[in-house]
Amino acid sequence: MSIIEKALNKALELEQSSTNKKADQQNFPERLENIEAAEPVPEPTRKATAEASKIHSIGWSHLREKGMLGPEMAYSQIAEEYRLIKRPLLMNAFPDGDNGLSRANLILVTSSVPGEGKTFTAVNLALSIAMERDKTVLLIDADVAKPSIAELLGIPAKIGLTDLLQDKSIRFSDVLIKTDIPNLTLLPAGKLDRHSTELLASDAMKRLANELSARYPDRVVIFDSPPLLAASQGSVLATLVGQVVLVIESESTPQYIVQEAISKLESCEVIGCVLNKTKKGFGFRYYGYGYGYGYGSYGQQRTDG
Ligand SMILES: Nc1ncnc2c1ncn2[C@@H]1O[C@H](COP(=O)(O)OP(=O)(O)OP(=O)(O)O)[C@@H](O)[C@H]1O
Ligand SMILES: [Mg+2]
Repeated sequence: MSIIEKALNKALELEQSSTNKKADQQNFPERLENIEAAEPVPEPTRKATAEASKIHSIGWSHLREKGMLGPEMAYSQIAEEYRLIKRPLLMNAFPDGDNGLSRANLILVTSSVPGEGKTFTAVNLALSIAMERDKTVLLIDADVAKPSIAELLGIPAKIGLTDLLQDKSIRFSDVLIKTDIPNLTLLPAGKLDRHSTELLASDAMKRLANELSARYPDRVVIFDSPPLLAASQGSVLATLVGQVVLVIESESTPQYIVQEAISKLESCEVIGCVLNKTKKGFGFRYYGYGYGYGYGSYGQQRTDG
């Protein structure tokens, strides 16, 4: 395909995504009520709502032990690295004019194989964005088979995404957990049963993604996901979001594995890569992050980090 044909295809895709975005904004259903609304609710959801309206403190000491971001670390190297990672994501999500991207405020953090640092990246990214005063973040643990965010943040979680997707009596506000960072809300994974992973590919999940993007366009929604090559849910989730951050474990994940993972992301317009756990080029630190970023194809990526 010539460069001109590629450019024409890209223009057509952007036009289509702009049309989809408008359709999304007109079609959201009613169950996703404003989370700040305090209207009376029937039993049995009242108990769950009372639980969800509590503000939970983040366990900073645990995060510190794990080498993660903390509120006192605004001028640290890790804070600076996450600034570099979030900047292009936020520019896409909140452009000055129409950039033609749909659902760019929905960001999926994934990787090729387990253990590359998806949760580490998703949580740090959420903290970094939430600590900017004008941005609100919803962090969703969509790795429902292997949830870890609530525990990592030191927050007790009983119900979450899987419960919301399969129980019509549960409302969105019932499963949200407010944190003591006013701009950060958590949606935990929820109860695990044998249908949990199928729920990620359900129509209910699609509707939730549409609603999140249409009703809360000013909010960043970060999904922690299963690895792309270990299960199909990661690539299904990738079709629901506007941007994907692919975490690659430095000096560990072979290139052909990364390429195979990228082939599962064909539908995604924006794919950013975080090179995680780097051992070189970041001063004395053992771990570091690099960020590469491109539209649609790994081959076109530009590396900033
Ligand atoms: N950049 C980093 N610096 C320090 N520790 C890291 C870094 N990235 C990941 N880790 C650590 O590596 C381990 C695996 O990371 P993490 O749990 O985020 O991976 P994951 O991709 O979410 O794994 P899984 O596929 O099992 O969900 C954790 O102990 C985490 O704290
Ligand atoms: Mg994880």
